[in-house]
Amino acid sequence: MQFMGINIWGVMSAALGTMLLGLLWYSPLLFGRSRVRWLGDVPNDQGQPNEMRKGSGKFYVLFFFASLLAAFVLGQIIRISTVSTALLGMKVGAGMWLGFVSTVQFTNMLFSRKPARLYLIDTGYQLVSFLVMGAIIAAWPRPPRRMGTELGFGVFQERCMSCHGNPNASQQAPDPSALRHLTPEAIYVALTSGAMRVQGQGLTDEEKRRVAEWLGGRPLGSLLAGDAKQMKNHCPDNAPLTDPSRSPAWNGWGVDIENTRFQATSAAGLRADQVPRLRLKWAFGYPNGVTAAGQPTIAWGRVFVGTDIGYVYSLDAASGCVHWSFQTEAGVRNAISIGPITKKGHLKYAVYFGDAKANVYALDASNGGLLWKKHVEDHFTARITGAPTLYEERLYVPVSSSEEWSASSPDYPCCTFRGSVIALDAKTGREVWKTFVVPEEPKPTRKNSKGVQLFAPAGASVWNSPTADAKRRAIYFGTGDSETEPAARTSDSIMALDMDTGRVLWVFQATANDSFLRGCEPGPNRSESCPKIVGPDWDFGASPILRALPDGRRILVAASKSGKVFGLDPDSAGALLWAADLAMKPPDTNGLIVFGGAADEENAYFALTSGGMAAIKLATGARVWFAPMVAKGMPPARVGMSAAVTAIPGAAFVGGWDGTLHAVSTADGHKLWEFKTAREFATVNGVAAKGGSFGAPGPTLGGGMLFAGSGYSVFGETPGNVLLAFSIK
Ligand code: HEC
Repeated sequence: MQFMGINIWGVMSAALGTMLLGLLWYSPLLFGRSRVRWLGDVPNDQGQPNEMRKGSGKFYVLFFFASLLAAFVLGQIIRISTVSTALLGMKVGAGMWLGFVSTVQFTNMLFSRKPARLYLIDTGYQLVSFLVMGAIIAAWPRPPRRMGTELGFGVFQERCMSCHGNPNASQQAPDPSALRHLTPEAIYVALTSGAMRVQGQGLTDEEKRRVAEWLGGRPLGSLLAGDAKQMKNHCPDNAPLTDPSRSPAWNGWGVDIENTRFQATSAAGLRADQVPRLRLKWAFGYPNGVTAAGQPTIAWGRVFVGTDIGYVYSLDAASGCVHWSFQTEAGVRNAISIGPITKKGHLKYAVYFGDAKANVYALDASNGGLLWKKHVEDHFTARITGAPTLYEERLYVPVSSSEEWSASSPDYPCCTFRGSVIALDAKTGREVWKTFVVPEEPKPTRKNSKGVQLFAPAGASVWNSPTADAKRRAIYFGTGDSETEPAARTSDSIMALDMDTGRVLWVFQATANDSFLRGCEPGPNRSESCPKIVGPDWDFGASPILRALPDGRRILVAASKSGKVFGLDPDSAGALLWAADLAMKPPDTNGLIVFGGAADEENAYFALTSGGMAAIKLATGARVWFAPMVAKGMPPARVGMSAAVTAIPGAAFVGGWDGTLHAVSTADGHKLWEFKTAREFATVNGVAAKGGSFGAPGPTLGGGMLFAGSGYSVFGETPGNVLLAFSIK
């Protein structure tokens, strides 16, 4: 039973424990006798038996309530510090005792002139009782919390890399990229009862799952369950698809190739004044999913959505019935683009997307049949998290990686991945060009103390969906941090490439010298791969937004995780027009603006991880308004929003880490509507589903409906596996 985020039975047991301990401590068996004796020495005797004697019922009740209050407050502190083992709980308890109990008792002793030995007995009891309470509360079993599939690279480095992918290993173990072709189920079986059971012995079950899911690229158990054939709500008919421009659409990440994330009223089918009337229409569950970070695409009155469980679905927008499912090699967490494709002289429509193993797919939009598939990057940590952008029969694919997510092992030949953008022929999947963000190939630098060769330069993943500029035939995207030192001059930058050749047109670097790897906190476990000076991790997670101003000038608006927003001139080689800083204090490790904003003709709207939304003027960068939206009852680092904003005329939408979907007025940020999604939902496909955090995509709107996936579990947010559909009807 949970109350204010902690388990009530755990708190009760801790209170009971401390009470029993107290009775024992002050019994004649331990210190009771000495205490009574020494109390006798105290002048102005306070040890006289009074009316509320030990042993009376009232005494026990009050003692219990005092202990309960202490245990409850300690429980809250333990919850906030997110510790979950008895030892760490005892550490927190000891800290509380040292700072607030031992000192208060000590001052008391000084004032009441009690002997020090009495003080030692009393404060000794408090110390032991805080240790006991801390241990019980921290170790109390929590409701199982399923983690995302993306984090297992650290376990892989620490527990597998000594053999797999290590040229110095004595045994010839399969290369990591070969392991990535296996299913998570096969890897888990290998670790528990198969060829790797000896190597698996040192791992907890959680670690085995984590590494199997990261290698396999999807959660365990989702392989068969996700198939539409297992679902009960098949659509009765499947009308042929015609020109998609004849019905309302939300295509790709940004609704348009400029990535404005702004849907006009006619296409949205919803006005700002109708937003307060939005109601849940249906919910669709992703079996065994933990992160619903595929952004729903709308076309032909259908929804196309990728999932972490390794299935892409085509659903009916009005009812949620399923047209088809397609099994991918790994989870799909980006947005799908649709476009015409001619095959053998026939006009068809294709859906395009990329997966967590760096595969790009084109499927027949009408039936989910595979048209082509292309593996675009061989590095075993490579993945496609940002959505490929479709423009004029070309697909511009951003490539990112898990490499920077862990520097935990001296066995890993850190680092060799470089972010890139790849242009593919949308008809065939053929590579037209590939441009690495860091132009130089990684070369050997030094060997670490284990003799493992290290490499540089590396890093600069592309986490966002490229923006296309038809006028200049350019594409723009943001780059991530460097992983090695010195940092590349193109990391944490906005880059412009020639659409036809991939040639670099210009680079605007927002943060220099940002070499970053996770797991490089100071301490004994700090890996030798870590940069000497660890940078702030101020990637561009957001796609740049291209907009025309009323006076005909154009502007490219780019938001960095630092909280700075830049207005660049796309018609003058990215010259800086203005910079706005939305950070009220230095951002924490989350960064401040992660997956980006939306822009109407006047303003851009950005949500902040510290909680709230800001509007800034496109022409000047001036802040127009700020609306705080700080979630209650969440850990301090999870009160805000990392997900992207979506806008229609008059209203902006964003989901928070707490699972609340917000709509605010674009005029002044006042609240129009909200809906709490962190709960269970009955689903049209009969799959058990619940919502959780919003993490990356924003909701999409089209034809009078709003769609949003709820659930995000990458760095400890709240998992969830549901797609929600809203309308005012
Ligand atoms: C001590 C060296 C060593 C370590 C550590 C190690 N492996 Fe292996 N692994 C091997 C070798 C050697 C093979 C090939 C075995 C064979 O073909 O029988 C292998 C094979 C595998 C296979 C293929 C199994 C099969 O059934 O074909 C998987 C999956 C695998 N390892 C996963 C892992 C994972 C995950 C870890 C870390 C938790 C790990 N290994 C740690 C040496 C190692």
